[in-house]
Amino acid sequence: MFKFFTDKPKWYLNAVFYEIFLRSFKDGNGDGIGDLTGLTEKLDYLKELGVDCLWLCPIYPSPLKDNGYDISDFYSIDPVYGTLQEFKDLVKEVQKRGMRLIMDLVVNHTSDEHPWFQEARSNPDSPYRDYYVWSDTDEPYRDARIIFLDTESSNWAYDEEAGKYYWHRFYSSQPDLNYANPAVRSEMLNIIRHWLDLGIDGFRVDAVPYLFEEDGTNCENLPQTHEYLKQIREFVDRNYNDKVLICEANQPPADVVDYLGNGDEFHMAFHFPLMPKIFMGLRTGTRLPIEEAIKNTPAIPEETQWGTFLRNHDELTLEMVTPEEREWMWQEYAPEPRMRLNLGIRRRLAPLFDNNREMIMLANRLLFSLPGTPFLYYGDEIGMGDDVDLPDRNGVRTPMQWEAAEGAGFSTDPQPHTPVITRAPFSPESVNVEQQMQQAGSLWKQMQELIAIRKNEKVFQSNETEFVEHADERVMVFRRSKDKDEMLFVHNLSSDSIQFQVELPVFNDQKFVDLFSKDELRTNGDTLECTLSPFQSLYLKAG
Ligand code: NOJ
Ligand code: CA
Repeated sequence: MFKFFTDKPKWYLNAVFYEIFLRSFKDGNGDGIGDLTGLTEKLDYLKELGVDCLWLCPIYPSPLKDNGYDISDFYSIDPVYGTLQEFKDLVKEVQKRGMRLIMDLVVNHTSDEHPWFQEARSNPDSPYRDYYVWSDTDEPYRDARIIFLDTESSNWAYDEEAGKYYWHRFYSSQPDLNYANPAVRSEMLNIIRHWLDLGIDGFRVDAVPYLFEEDGTNCENLPQTHEYLKQIREFVDRNYNDKVLICEANQPPADVVDYLGNGDEFHMAFHFPLMPKIFMGLRTGTRLPIEEAIKNTPAIPEETQWGTFLRNHDELTLEMVTPEEREWMWQEYAPEPRMRLNLGIRRRLAPLFDNNREMIMLANRLLFSLPGTPFLYYGDEIGMGDDVDLPDRNGVRTPMQWEAAEGAGFSTDPQPHTPVITRAPFSPESVNVEQQMQQAGSLWKQMQELIAIRKNEKVFQSNETEFVEHADERVMVFRRSKDKDEMLFVHNLSSDSIQFQVELPVFNDQKFVDLFSKDELRTNGDTLECTLSPFQSLYLKAG
């Protein structure tokens, strides 16, 4: 389980990723919209935080019906974010700081404003007609579920101009590309080449399970889809070195693991089932849901890795839990209906934990100590809030809060593209980068420390994790090792102060140092005794 052996580990196996919704990160030219020069200005900040790889959400031209995941030109950057030269400068500056950059690759669909679709709908003889999936009725592929449940009632939409229905798995403004057409398949390889040639380090590949359709199936995870994804990997391996392809497939572990192939498909896959279990564990004050999720995680091929996360730019998805668990999660974490979206919760990390610092840090310390490579979402390192009055997922995509001043130092435009959070306790006055970088003990400082520990310690170069069985369900204990390095992780999931005792036969009279408090602990014979404060984590290094 969770093994990989290699002398020179691939960089993505143990890196810290940081997701950036560019539109809201930093406005460099004062038009109220975050952009490339703004991000470039903030690279020193990201370096200081300690992250290794930046993931840029889509920055391609788009009518923004799905915030950039509806693309109208795959080969260029929306001028509102900057020029190609500014993009090249960004890549250079990222590399200069020893960091990396990946982008979103939206393979499944285009915007309905994409010229391909415009031509396809108006000209039946155009080669672009067959770039999309058409039907005279809305009957085919009945077994495919609807993903955007709150807004869509069918995966087919009728197009007056074409006089036909077209297939779409997301918004009806996002027609699916037709992967049965070889021209589409080679077009996507050209797009990949275009961006990798500009020096980026890889892609977070969006919505991969849905590329092919076939009647009598649910049109997800089809063999044809895997076959094509392997061709993408082969293309990337043949032409480039050291790139990463990350799979976004919100699917059960047994299906997700197929996207890693035999080490010949994706390098990484997001671990969707683990995420809600971390929230369940913290709310119930028990380790069981999280341990169960890890134990149910299948083994993965060498040189592949899980991408783990707490939050991202989407709703906190509850597709991977049972209907009863989902109801419970909604009641606990989204008591108001407007906090819910599709099968999820449209809130940020800090508000989900009622801005409780200990819980926020426990969630992060759990994430950083469990197997997988952690992904952070911009703003969560300072505990930013959300705005549930904004539509769709916009409430978790508000301007980054750099300073205490009104407007949060995001833009000189007093009316940014989406409003800065103003409500206490999450207004810029109380939540901003500048203050937290100066303040000892701030959330930002704790996150910086956590990232540094994660990158320093050798045990994280392996995914091997061994849970220690014991009676107290409130406390999770596990061991990780790499060569001679050993660490023991102790997490108190509950709000109780606990006098904790556990037997550790492998650690006889062993001295440990907690990497956070620097306190020394020692097993007495094979017994470890310690006092745990509410939601406390110990990262105990043997030695
Ligand atoms: C997943 C993306 O994360 C989400 O934001 C988007 O709406 C869908 N894929 C469709 O592209
Ligand atoms: Ca701008």
